[in-house]
Amino acid sequence: MARQHPITTEASSGAGALEITGLSVEYVTKRSRTRVIDNLTLTLQPDEMLGVVGESGCGKSTLAYSIMRMIPPPGRPVAGAIRFGRHGDLLSVPELYMNRLRGDRIAMIFQGAQSVFNPVRRIGRQVEDVFQAHGKDRRKGLERARELLKATQLDPGRVLKSYPHEMSGGMRQRVAIAMALLLDPEILILDEPTSALDVVSQAAILELLVEIRQRFHVSLIFITHDFAVVSSHADRIAVMYAGHIVEIGRADEIFRVPRHPYTKGLIQAIPNIRGPLRDIRAMDGEPPDLSKEIVGCPFAPRCPEVMDACRSYKPELLTIAPGHEAACIRAAMAEAQ
Ligand SMILES: Nc1ncnc2c1ncn2[C@@H]1O[C@H](COP(=O)(O)OP(=O)(O)O)[C@@H](O)[C@H]1O
Ligand SMILES: [Mg+2]
Repeated sequence: MARQHPITTEASSGAGALEITGLSVEYVTKRSRTRVIDNLTLTLQPDEMLGVVGESGCGKSTLAYSIMRMIPPPGRPVAGAIRFGRHGDLLSVPELYMNRLRGDRIAMIFQGAQSVFNPVRRIGRQVEDVFQAHGKDRRKGLERARELLKATQLDPGRVLKSYPHEMSGGMRQRVAIAMALLLDPEILILDEPTSALDVVSQAAILELLVEIRQRFHVSLIFITHDFAVVSSHADRIAVMYAGHIVEIGRADEIFRVPRHPYTKGLIQAIPNIRGPLRDIRAMDGEPPDLSKEIVGCPFAPRCPEVMDACRSYKPELLTIAPGHEAACIRAAMAEAQ
């Protein structure tokens, strides 16, 4: 079920929280040039939870790294802009300025997030470290940490005294979220934060994020390879395939009436929801080799609804219903009828 975006006074002054336009990212070596993100356009609204979904290797982490301007070498953005309100284009602000924005205005929980903690320092000390590193009052940091830990339904006194190894995986993940929000960022990116957790803990984290988003006015980008994880909690979902967004819209709508055959395949592959016996053949095959030029629709070789035109024409994202876009010739034709 999608939720209405809460109306906030200051943040929602019309423009989105983050506007990515025409972003392309390549990993370039002497022998190959791999275009991992191709001409991607996406607007993140203030205080929304956007789920980014797609199979492993489709470019989700690279998209997150692009926003943080932390693409690992030899990757680099080759086109596009990432506008972040008054701060300007994140791809071109000076490195010192970007350094200040990181953690402070845009925070990220990286894939395999246990590593954010220093194993030999108590959590309380690590909170102080964060505040000190950003030139802020350590005691204020501890106050804010207490508030955030309470919001994540943990006992602040106990957590602040603990070492990371003294907490369970689910607890560590909550603490990581609280730590990421210490400096009151406008955007929090979570890259597969629940993949290592059991289903019950995953759902609890998602519910927590919905609450935190409203209470602390933060836009969330929740990255996962698992459609089921976000479909019931995100406001909108962006489905990625081979470096492209192939479908985007309100989560409930995408789930109910997916228009891109790849999205349909992802949904049909969710066990126990539409039933594993339905046509999951849609998901046979492999994503394309991104180091080779892709002619036509990147999903065409795997698509159960493929037409001749799909093999030569690369579909752009087109609006097929208000707020719902898909990059599929067939979906666009169905809409035009
Ligand atoms: N250092 C690198 N050199 C070349 N290709 C890379 C490098 N890192 C990632 N890739 C490629 O970029 C693509 C996207 O990777 P990634 O963003 O990690 O996807 P995801 O997070 O969706 O699994 C993959 O096809 C991967 O092979
Ligand atoms: Mg990844």
